[in-house]
Amino acid sequence: MEPTTRPQATVITIFGAAGDLTRRKLVPALYNLFLDKWLPERFAVFGLDVKEMSQDEWCLRLRQGVDEFSRQGKADDAQWQSFAAHLDFMAADFGDAAAYTRLGEQIAAQSKEWGGEANCIFYLAIPPSLIETIVRQLGQAKLSHDREHRRIVTEKPFGRDLDSASALNRMLIAVFDESQIYRIDHYLGKETVQNILAFRFANALFEPIWDRRYIDHVQITVGEQVGVEHRGAYYEHAGALRDMVQNHLLQILCLIAMEPPVSFNADEIRNKKVDVLCAIRPILPSEVHHVAVRGQYGRGWIEGQRVNRYRDEPDVAPDSSAETFAAIKLFVDNWRWQDVPFYLRTGKRLPARASEVFIQFRPVPHQSFPPSAVVDWQPNRLVIRIQPKEGIGLRFQAKQPGQTMHLSPVEMSFCYQDSFKASAPEAYETLLLDVMRGDATLFMRADQIETAWSVITPILDGWEAVTPADFPNYQAGSWGPEAAEVLIAQDGRSWLMPTVAADAENEPS
Ligand code: BG6
Repeated sequence: MEPTTRPQATVITIFGAAGDLTRRKLVPALYNLFLDKWLPERFAVFGLDVKEMSQDEWCLRLRQGVDEFSRQGKADDAQWQSFAAHLDFMAADFGDAAAYTRLGEQIAAQSKEWGGEANCIFYLAIPPSLIETIVRQLGQAKLSHDREHRRIVTEKPFGRDLDSASALNRMLIAVFDESQIYRIDHYLGKETVQNILAFRFANALFEPIWDRRYIDHVQITVGEQVGVEHRGAYYEHAGALRDMVQNHLLQILCLIAMEPPVSFNADEIRNKKVDVLCAIRPILPSEVHHVAVRGQYGRGWIEGQRVNRYRDEPDVAPDSSAETFAAIKLFVDNWRWQDVPFYLRTGKRLPARASEVFIQFRPVPHQSFPPSAVVDWQPNRLVIRIQPKEGIGLRFQAKQPGQTMHLSPVEMSFCYQDSFKASAPEAYETLLLDVMRGDATLFMRADQIETAWSVITPILDGWEAVTPADFPNYQAGSWGPEAAEVLIAQDGRSWLMPTVAADAENEPS
């Protein structure tokens, strides 16, 4: 789509400019926005890092990142050069006040050159331990004071439990106003996640049946094939519940369960999402083992390759208790969802990279057809495919062709790629552009983060109190531990196979 209005002049300051996030995600996203003419005509990217490196070394590193990770493939020399002319690297000690004075002077000089007050975004692409130092320094250097033009972006993890997240919020809010703070959950920037809102609230068809009267249960699966890779040190203190459920999966649940917003205003949408989190039935300590299952991968096979167990990954303890898989059952106690279970599961080293939401409808109230007509009777099901093969599928019963009445399930399918042809922007492109525009709809407000932590706190506490005796308890390349099957089977249901995995199983070998 052709850009309509570009954001106003912007300086983006990245703290952690030599880090992985900058190279893999932020700069490829900025570069794509530049190519697609979404960036402001007047923009500058200031990169700050404790690592000493020259401007040329930094630019080369970023260029390699773009070549490797950009959705648009390798950069063209001339286009890269014109983008790189906006980049400026500064080695800086994040605890040194002088660095912030210098940064302030540079921002002021840039604004002056552009002839007006530029928007200024401080992007914290750094480990959580550095957040406080940087935020306080920004405050002391008065770089946070202009409420209209200054914004700060924080990455996850946002705290490691409710107390630390609340403390982080208090510290941020002492320096920046809530309206200036953009807390990233990159799942919210994914096209298909945003499309849940469009699907639900731009169509009249489904909303009347989107409740406990017609929906039997909801499943959210976010499966990853990759292991913990080089992030063992972080993951040892996180685990799947903190890393994925507290943020990405609960946010998807909110979009599925929220009430229709009155407008597309950031706070209105976030209010409706917080309402869902507040309505999630608190888990009693005695129930934890009944509604939550954890797992850790052992050795196994992924796409014909032998892979290590989690405990053999770099920076992981040989007796680690970190969970690489989590499955939980939640209820949303309100008029719409009372007693409809929401089953959530996520894990690393599962058979497929697949994120899907299944809305399983109830069976028809009365079966008019004789049993002989029904070859494979299955209730209606809606599948929202977040990734890959982004799209939506609706399963319904159809008559098989022929002179006799035989029914079987068929799928009506919408696929992004086929319908829209154009490739979708990466989540970070959408989110960075939204920060430049000052639109916080897809970002987490303080209360959203804290309420999400409260939801999982009883599970965190319950798990921390007991060392898992059976780890590793699932093979890499399987769908998780046996106990996850039991979690859902005890309700007379089973996990639904994500589309890519089902397709792979049905492929002739
Ligand atoms: C991140 C987690 O937030 O999301 C990672 O920290 C995980 O552990 C990643 O791999 C998954 O994101 P995506 O976009 O690849 O599904």
